Amino acid sequence: MDLLKKRIVEDGTVLPGNVLKVDNFLNHQVDTKLMDEIGKEFAKLFEGEKITKVVTVESSGIAPALMTALHLGVPLIFARKHKSLTLTDNLYTATVYSYTKRVSNDISVDKRFLNSEDRILIIDDFLANGQAVQGLLEIAKVANVQVAGIGIVIEKSFQKGRSMIEKTGVRLESLARIASLENQKVTFVE
Ligand code: G4P
Ligand code: NA
Ligand code: NA
Repeated sequence: MDLLKKRIVEDGTVLPGNVLKVDNFLNHQVDTKLMDEIGKEFAKLFEGEKITKVVTVESSGIAPALMTALHLGVPLIFARKHKSLTLTDNLYTATVYSYTKRVSNDISVDKRFLNSEDRILIIDDFLANGQAVQGLLEIAKVANVQVAGIGIVIEKSFQKGRSMIEKTGVRLESLARIASLENQKVTFVE
């Protein structure tokens, strides 16, 4: 998606540790017009897939996921993050380990919002090691819902997430794929 790539080049900054900071349009301040275009693009890519719900994890996934859900005409569910859960009877839960932040969080979705008739689209802002997506795939499996696909705004293709998803066979669409962040420079996958 050229509009997104252009914005990454113009407004993204590369931090030590291969981290791309995009907090002026995606992760803190949100460019609503750009999110609308992102939502339209995902809706176009997945329009034939009979999606019933879009699912993400709070908080940074919500903006692109909301616009995608709006353009598909379906609800958005965002899994909630907790330090660790005690009362889980009414929840689908998974544990997500963040390599970047070196913390584990439980994520959860209320059982009322997913059922076996659902066919979901998973959306997230970043794909790095794929832990967040893996947590959502676990929840989908336990909830017995089909996963029509995974849509990622910015994929760091040099990390493990893509190959993890490819092994599952689930369709993956990333709007911007970054091959490298070496020398403070963003290089996209050809
Ligand atoms: P993973 O889900 O792909 O395994 O991601 P990982 O644990 O490596 O990253 C932890 C958090 O950092 C995730 O956000 C992920 O989206 C985000 N992240 C990973 N690489 C980058 C990057 O280069 N730039 C930015 N801006 N974020 C990155 P989170 O903590 O789960 O979510 P949220 O609280 O921000 O919504
Ligand atoms: Na994030
Ligand atoms: Na995220």
